[in-house]
Amino acid sequence: MSVIAKTDASGGTEIHPEVLAFGSSLTHDARLFREDVLGSLAHVTMLGETGIVPAEHARVLAGALRTLYRERPALPPEEDIHMAIEAWLGETVPASAGYLHTGRSRNDQVALALRLHVREACIQMERALAGLVTAIVERARAEADVPMPAYTHRQRAQPVTVGFWLLAHATAFSRDLEAFAHARAAADVCPLGSCAIAGSTLPLDRARTQRLLGFGRMSENALDAVSDRDFALDFIYAAARFGIHASRFATDVVDFSTGEFGFLKLGDGIASGSSMMPQKRNPDVFELVRGKSGLSVGHLVSLLVTMKGLPGGYNRDQQEDRTPLFGAEDTALACARILALALPELTVNPERTRAALAEDATQATDLAEGLVKRGVPFRQAYRAVGALVRKASDAKTPLAKVSLDFARAVDARFDAELLALLSLDGAAARKGTPGSTGKEAIAAQLDTLTRRVGAHLDALGQQKTLDDLAAHLSEPS
Ligand code: ARG
Repeated sequence: MSVIAKTDASGGTEIHPEVLAFGSSLTHDARLFREDVLGSLAHVTMLGETGIVPAEHARVLAGALRTLYRERPALPPEEDIHMAIEAWLGETVPASAGYLHTGRSRNDQVALALRLHVREACIQMERALAGLVTAIVERARAEADVPMPAYTHRQRAQPVTVGFWLLAHATAFSRDLEAFAHARAAADVCPLGSCAIAGSTLPLDRARTQRLLGFGRMSENALDAVSDRDFALDFIYAAARFGIHASRFATDVVDFSTGEFGFLKLGDGIASGSSMMPQKRNPDVFELVRGKSGLSVGHLVSLLVTMKGLPGGYNRDQQEDRTPLFGAEDTALACARILALALPELTVNPERTRAALAEDATQATDLAEGLVKRGVPFRQAYRAVGALVRKASDAKTPLAKVSLDFARAVDARFDAELLALLSLDGAAARKGTPGSTGKEAIAAQLDTLTRRVGAHLDALGQQKTLDDLAAHLSEPS
C-alpha cells in the first residue's frame, strides 16, 4: 500500500503496516466508487474551467475518470476508495494526477460521496416503498368488504374489514416514503469547496460543481459541512422506523396465519418448511422482516453514538458511519422488496375472519352508540350494553344472536331497531367518520394513498440519479 496522505512533515512513509490496515476503510467504502468518481469528475471539470488547473491536465484527468467509471478496473490497495482512485490516476495519467486534489480535502470528498450515496439510496428506497404501498393498496381494494375483527391488546375489539387492516399498514408505509424524501432533501446539499474545514484561498466555483452534481443547495458553513452526518442519521432513522412498521405488519401476518387465527394462508412460494415436522408451513419471511427491524434500530443507535460527543470538524470516528449506513440501506431495501413480493402470496380465509366476529361481541360499541343517538348518556349506554354482553356470554350466546326478549330483560330501552345494530353484515361499513372502516372512508383512503404514491413518483422522476449524472458528465464539456 502506498501512502499518499503522508509527507515529510508527518513522518514520511514510516507508518506501521498494522496501523495502516487498522485504519483502512476500503472494504466498506469501495461501495462509494461511483459517487467518488463522479465527484472528482465534477471537481476537475470546474478546476479546468476556472483555470485553477491547466485546462489540458483537467481534460486528461476527466478522460481518465470517465474511463475509470466505465471500465471499473482493479484499483491499487489504498487505505480508502478516495486514495485508491487517486493512486490509480497516478499510475494511469502520472503527469496530471497531482492536480486532482487541488482545492479539495478528503473531508469534503467523503462528505460529498456520502451525500450522493444517501440521495441515491433514498431514491431506491422510495421506489421500493411506492411499490409496496401500491401492492398493499391493490390488495386492500380487493378485500375492502371482507369483515374481520380489529384487535386491541390482541383481544377482539371492533368489526373492521381486511381492506381496512391492510390500509392501516399502507398508511404507515406511506409516511416512511415521506421520511425518505426528507432524508433525500437533507442529503441534497453540495459540500464540495468546504475543503478540510475552512474553505479555500483558490477561486473555486462552488456553484458550478453543485450544478454539475445536480444538488439543490450548497453547504453554508465549511466547518459544519465536514462535521455533518445529519443526512445519514435521517436516512437511518427513516430505515429504522420503516423497520418498525414492517415488523408490525409482519407480526400481524405471523399471528393471522396461525391455526388459532386462520385468517391468512401463506402461498407455497413463501411458506417455509421444518427440517423435522413434515406438516409445517412457517412464516419465516415475516419473522425475518421482524428480526431485521432489530438490526435497523441498532444501526440508528450505532451512528447516533458514534456522532455523540465528537468535536466540530472531521474526526476519523466518522469513518465508522459506513457500517450502519450501508447496513440500514441493505436491510430496509431487502425488507421492502420481500414484503411487496410476499403480499400476493397471502390468501384470506373469509370464513375464519367472519367466524371470529360471529362468536364474539365486537359490535357492543355500535349498540351503545345506538342508544347514544336516542339521547342516552354514553356512560349509561355503556353500562347497559356491558350488562347485556355479560348475560349473553353467561348464556353462551354470541351477541349477534340475542333475542329482543333477552335484551329487554337486561334493559327496557333495547328495541328491534337497536338490536339490528348487532347484525354483523355491514357492521364495519356502517362507520361514517373519515379515516374509519366505513365504506366511503375506505374508498377515500384508497384514493388518497393512490394519489400520494403517484405524486411522489412524479416528484422522484425529477431527481437526478447517479446514472443521470454519469450520462451528463460523460460528455467532454
Ligand atoms: N477514509 C476516511 C473516511 O472515510 C477519509 C477521510 C480521511 N480524512 C482525514 N482527514 N484523515 O472518513
